[in-house]
Amino acid sequence: MPPRRSIALGATSVVAAFALTLALAACDPLPGGGVVSTVGEVDFASPLRIPPLAESTTDDAGTRHFSLTAQAGSTEFTAGVATTTWGYDGDFLGPTLVADAGEKVQVDIANDLDEETTVHWHGMHLPATADGGPHSPIAPGASSSPAWRIDQSAATLWYHPHITGNTEHQASMGLDGLFIVRDAAEAALPLPRRYGVDDIPLVVQDVRFGDDGQFDTGVKGYIGTLGDQVLVNGSLGAHFDVTTTVVRVRLLNGSPARVYDFGFDDGRRFDQIASDGGLLEAPVATTGLVLSPGERAEILVTLAPGESTVLRSTPPDLGMKPTTGERNGASDSFDLLELRAADTLATVGTLPAALVPVERLDPADAAKTRSFVLSDARINNELMDMGRVDVVALLGDTEVWVVDNSMAQPHSFHVHGLQFQVLDIDGVAPPRGLAGWKDTVYVPPGSQYRLIMRFDDYADPRTPYMFHCHLLQHEDDGMMGQFVVVEPGDEEYAGVSAAPAGGHTAHGG
Ligand code: C2O
Ligand code: CU
Ligand code: CU
Repeated sequence: MPPRRSIALGATSVVAAFALTLALAACDPLPGGGVVSTVGEVDFASPLRIPPLAESTTDDAGTRHFSLTAQAGSTEFTAGVATTTWGYDGDFLGPTLVADAGEKVQVDIANDLDEETTVHWHGMHLPATADGGPHSPIAPGASSSPAWRIDQSAATLWYHPHITGNTEHQASMGLDGLFIVRDAAEAALPLPRRYGVDDIPLVVQDVRFGDDGQFDTGVKGYIGTLGDQVLVNGSLGAHFDVTTTVVRVRLLNGSPARVYDFGFDDGRRFDQIASDGGLLEAPVATTGLVLSPGERAEILVTLAPGESTVLRSTPPDLGMKPTTGERNGASDSFDLLELRAADTLATVGTLPAALVPVERLDPADAAKTRSFVLSDARINNELMDMGRVDVVALLGDTEVWVVDNSMAQPHSFHVHGLQFQVLDIDGVAPPRGLAGWKDTVYVPPGSQYRLIMRFDDYADPRTPYMFHCHLLQHEDDGMMGQFVVVEPGDEEYAGVSAAPAGGHTAHGG
C-alpha cells in the first residue's frame, strides 16, 4: 500500500488526529480544516524519473515527425503496488518532444484507449485545426496527425487531453507530457540545457491512492480534486543527483486543482528565468514561486559541492479568506524532490543579467476590450456550448481581456493558441515573474486581471479555440468558452460547422 499522508493540525493533537482518522474512514477524507503535509515524511530514496525524449525523424520536406500513442498501462509508484495508469508511448506520462522555432512538425497520434481522447498543445501558437481541443476527438483505435510550423520563442509547453467533460480524468490517469521549444536567442545564453543532466523537467501532480492502490479521484471539493501526495514525473519522494554548479528546472503544475508555492527547505534563493511562454527579460531572484494548474516556470538553482536541498511546496496564498471551511489546499505542504549535489561539480551555466527582449503589447493598440466574469463554474454566466462562438476576433488585432473573478472561490484563466501578457492586476502592474509571456493565470477571489493579446497568423472562421478556467473540474463542468479568429470581412462566416452534438457531457466519477 502506498504511504499514507501525515496530517498536521496546528499544534498536533493525538485526539484530534484520531478523530480525523475516523472521519477519513467514514469517507470524508479531507474535511474542511484538515491540513495535508508530507514535510519531513519523505525519504527521497528513489531516483527521479525523467520522461524520455521523444524520437523523431525529419522528412525531405524538412518536417519533423513525432508519434504518440495514448495507451493504458500499469505503474508501481510504491514497490509492489500496481496502479492502473495511462500514458503516451508508455505506462504513465509521455515523452518530451523537442523542436526548434521555425521547424515544421507533425505528430501522428494513435488512440489505443477504449474511449475518445484528444491531444491539446497547451501554450502552442498554431492553427485551431491542430490545437487538439474538444472539436478534435480521436475515437478509440483511430488516429490523427496535426501538423504546424513552430512559430514562437523557446518555451516549456505541455500536451494533455481536452475531451469534453472528461479532461480531468484523462490527464489525471497520466496523459501529460512536455513540448520544449528551442530557439537561437535561448541557445545564445549561458544557460544549462542538457536534458535530464542539468536541465530537468518536473511534472508536478498531486494524487490520492485508494486502499486498493488505485488513483482515487472520487473526492471533489469546490475547486476539484486535491490529492494528498505529490508525484514528480511519476516519482514519489525522489532525489536528483546534481553534477553541475547550476541546474535548470522546468516546472509544470500538471495538477487538476492544486496551487503550489515552490521553494526550498533551506529558504535558498533561486532565479526564475521563464514563464509559460518563454524567457523573461531578466532573471527574477526569489525564494518562492506560485504556480496554478497549467502554469510553467523555469528556474535556475545554484548548489555548492556536496550539499543537498529539498524542493518543497508551502501553503500558497490563494487570496482566500481562510474561513470558508472548503478544502482548497491553501494550508498544505509537500516535500517534493531532493537535489543532491556531487562532491565535485562541473561549472555549467551562469546567471545572465539580461535574458531576452520581450515585446510589450500596448493597450493603446487594442481594437477591443472585452469582459469575462468568472462566476460559479461559468464565464459571463454561460456554460460551454460547442455550437456557440463567444468571441470573434479579427486577425492581427490586439485586444484587452478583462477577467474578473466575482466569486469567493479560486479560478484561473487560460487562452488557447497564443501567449498573452498581464497588463495589470487590480490596477497594479504585475510582479516581474508574471510580466512575460503567459497563457494561464491564477485569478484569486475578488480580483481583476487585465490581459492583452494579439491574434496573429491563423484565421479560421469555422474552428474555434478555447478559453477556460484551468481547474480541470471547472473546465469539465463547462467553465469554458470559444473564440474564432477571422479575416476582416469574414465575421459573418464565424461559426462552428461540424460540432459534435451536445455541448456538454456529464461524466460520472
Ligand atoms: Cu491546458 Cu484548454 O488547456
Ligand atoms: Cu491550452
Ligand atoms: Cu474555476
